[in-house]
Order: sequence, then structure tokens, then C-alpha cells
Amino acid sequence: MTRIVSHRGANTFAPENTFAAADIALGQGADYIELDVRESADGVLYVIHDETLDRTTNGTGPIGHMLSSEVDALDAGSWFGEAFTGAVVPRLDTYLEHLRGRAGVYLELKYCDPAKVVALVRDLGMVRDTFYFSFSEDMRRDLQVIAPEFRKMITLDIAKSPSLVGAVHHASIIEITVEQMRRPGIVAASRKAGLEIMVYYGGSDIDIHREIAAAGVDYINLDRPDLFDAARRDPDGAAA
Ligand code: G3P
Ligand code: CA
Repeated sequence: MTRIVSHRGANTFAPENTFAAADIALGQGADYIELDVRESADGVLYVIHDETLDRTTNGTGPIGHMLSSEVDALDAGSWFGEAFTGAVVPRLDTYLEHLRGRAGVYLELKYCDPAKVVALVRDLGMVRDTFYFSFSEDMRRDLQVIAPEFRKMITLDIAKSPSLVGAVHHASIIEITVEQMRRPGIVAASRKAGLEIMVYYGGSDIDIHREIAAAGVDYINLDRPDLFDAARRDPDGAAA
């Protein structure tokens, strides 16, 4: 059965990349939580998407210019809704501890020291439960050198061909779009290359969720775990 990877947690129902977003996603059937990692000025790893604090907290400016004591005091919930006032920007260590034994983790290195992430994941005994990606070539190269055994994901857009995912990018998971999934050959070529397949779909069309469920891919990276969980339980829409 296709595993649900919840992009930044259940970001439609709670502020992205918070404990609440992760908990709601798990309640809606998510198997994995996707998260983004950046560092504070004093080198503490945090779960936050943007380089700056402005969109998702009551702080301003780059997180890399703020001390951890300042980041810990921020409100990462009230921008989304009053009910989430007081939500913190999670430290990566506490967030992973929160998820350990409950979910897999798709860890995206936005900009941070990969060695710190590797040490943390190894210390927590979560190597088998996690996989990794970064848009940054530097992050990907460093991660591969430090942790060749970690599971890596690469997008088809970056890899250019399923045949290059393992050979050039040392990855075992390929991420494709719905359009790429529909194109003849990409899913078959990915399978032939021995890859796991993850489809990215950020929309809320139940028929597209059903189409992805029917494709039998390994993972879906999405914003609506509730809809995909319903689709995979009721593939024909018979209960609708
Ligand atoms: O797999 C790619 C996706 O998770 C990227 O997330 O929203 O940080 O660009 P985002
Ligand atoms: Ca991400």
C-alpha cells in the first residue's frame, strides 16, 4: 500500500512544521512526516521551511541570525490561527524524538550542517526510519560522504533520468510529479532501475488521489493525508 508522506505535517489543518501539524497528520493516516531543517546563529538545528522567520513566526529576519534562546521564544502558531498560539519552532532533536516509533521521517536539508543531522539520527537510532533530500548540491554531496548508508531521495527533475538516480545521485527513491507518473515509461523505468517511487501532489482533488493510489507507487508526498487515506481505503469511490 502506498505510504503517505505528509508535507510539513498536516499543513492545511495546523501551522506547518509544528508538533500539532505532525500529530494531526498521524491522526489522519500519515506514515511519514516531511520536515525542513535550518540552523540558528549558534548552530542549533530547527524545523522550519523559510530562510527567514517572517512568514511562519512572530519573528523577523533570517533564522541564521538569531540565537537559539531567541528562536525558542518565538510563536510559530498564531499566524495560522488563534488556536495554535504558543506553538514553538521545534528543535530537530525534540521533533524527531516526538516522531520516533510513531512515523517515518522525510528529512529535507534546507541549509544546515549535514554532519549534525547524521549524528543526531544515528544517536536516536532512526536511520532505518528516515530518508533524505536537499535542493542544495552541497548538502547532498556532504550527506553522501558522511552517511553513505542513509536512504536518499532525488527528484526526476534533478536526476534527469531514472537511470541516473542511483549511479549519479546515490539515491534509492525517485520523486516524480503526477504528470510524470502519467507519462508512459517513467514508472516502469524507475522500477527497472530498482527504485522506490514517490509521487508529489499538493492538491486536493480526490480523483487524483485515487489515481495515484491505483498507480501502486511506494509513497505520496502530499498536503492532504486525510484525502489520500480515504482514497486508498475506498479506491473505487464506492462509499462516496
Ligand atoms: O520532495 C520535495 C518537497 O518535499 C519539497 O518541499 O515545500 O520545502 O519545497 P518544499
Ligand atoms: Ca520540504
